[in-house]
Amino acid sequence: MRKGIILAGGTGSRLHPFTKVVSKQLLPVYDKPMIYYSLSVLMLAGIREILIISTPSDLPRFQSLFGDGSSLGITLAYKEQPNPAGIAEAFLIGDTFLNGASSALILGDNIFFGDGLAEKLQRLSQTEMATVFSYQVSRPEAYGVIETDGSGKPVSIEEKPKAPKSSNAVTGLYFYPPDAPALARALTPSQRGELEITDLNRTYLDNGRLQVEHLGRGYSWLDAGTEEDLLEAANFIATFERRQGVRIGCIEEVAWRMGWITVEQLKALGESMPNSAYGKYIVNLARDAE
Ligand code: TTP
Repeated sequence: MRKGIILAGGTGSRLHPFTKVVSKQLLPVYDKPMIYYSLSVLMLAGIREILIISTPSDLPRFQSLFGDGSSLGITLAYKEQPNPAGIAEAFLIGDTFLNGASSALILGDNIFFGDGLAEKLQRLSQTEMATVFSYQVSRPEAYGVIETDGSGKPVSIEEKPKAPKSSNAVTGLYFYPPDAPALARALTPSQRGELEITDLNRTYLDNGRLQVEHLGRGYSWLDAGTEEDLLEAANFIATFERRQGVRIGCIEEVAWRMGWITVEQLKALGESMPNSAYGKYIVNLARDAE
């Protein structure tokens, strides 16, 4: 079974002063902490064993928020990343947790949303290739950029290139085969001193084991690294949720829809937050289903 890793460390320096005292991934994106969005994506992919990696000072807060995951019908483990030494370091830290399993890595400040996302992820979870998800952006030079040939096969991948070969960014969600920790261990740190996820992806590309899944216009991909991003993400979620009356990234709802908790358990989770609109939404979901 594929296991999940959420990387939720980093310095969050672009969000100072907040992130001097609180993890970026615990800041609100409208009605819930940022990390709910990435956790819900792994859950929608059908992944029930998940490792959360964060800084030594922030990790206890994630533990008090989620516990062992059993209330959501999942199993959560926690590990520290002492320094933000790169995204690919997740595989050195997560090696024993993965214990030879294939994996899905997601960055804790990424928000994915779109009709059919769960089915897409569940289908791709069955493949043995390494998979990256691309998304067209207006400023590709700020991201890892992937170039594909006419048939959608990847031909190059570059980290923050000055002259991007395409407008398609590599998003913060990656599926890997079981050898990702071994390949990550063989990487050397980049000039900025990080184990680069782009270098790990390039290893798979060079071996002919990388595939690209493009997320088209029907999907949204946001990250929440700056004050502007954070406000835009909150406004996006708020607009959608108010209009439709459904919530994005509600982990309690996802656990129930995946069949991992009962309607009674769902209701109890909502009732533990009786004063918030978020809690009331969960109670109402459970009542409607009863
Ligand atoms: P970044 O946004 O590149 O870095 P950051 O979160 O530290 O923010 P800033 O640039 O403002 O200082 O990181 C992307 C995501 O990956 C984010 O969720 C943090 C996480 N991350 C780690 O957990 N460990 C790391 O070593 C790195 C590089 C990133």
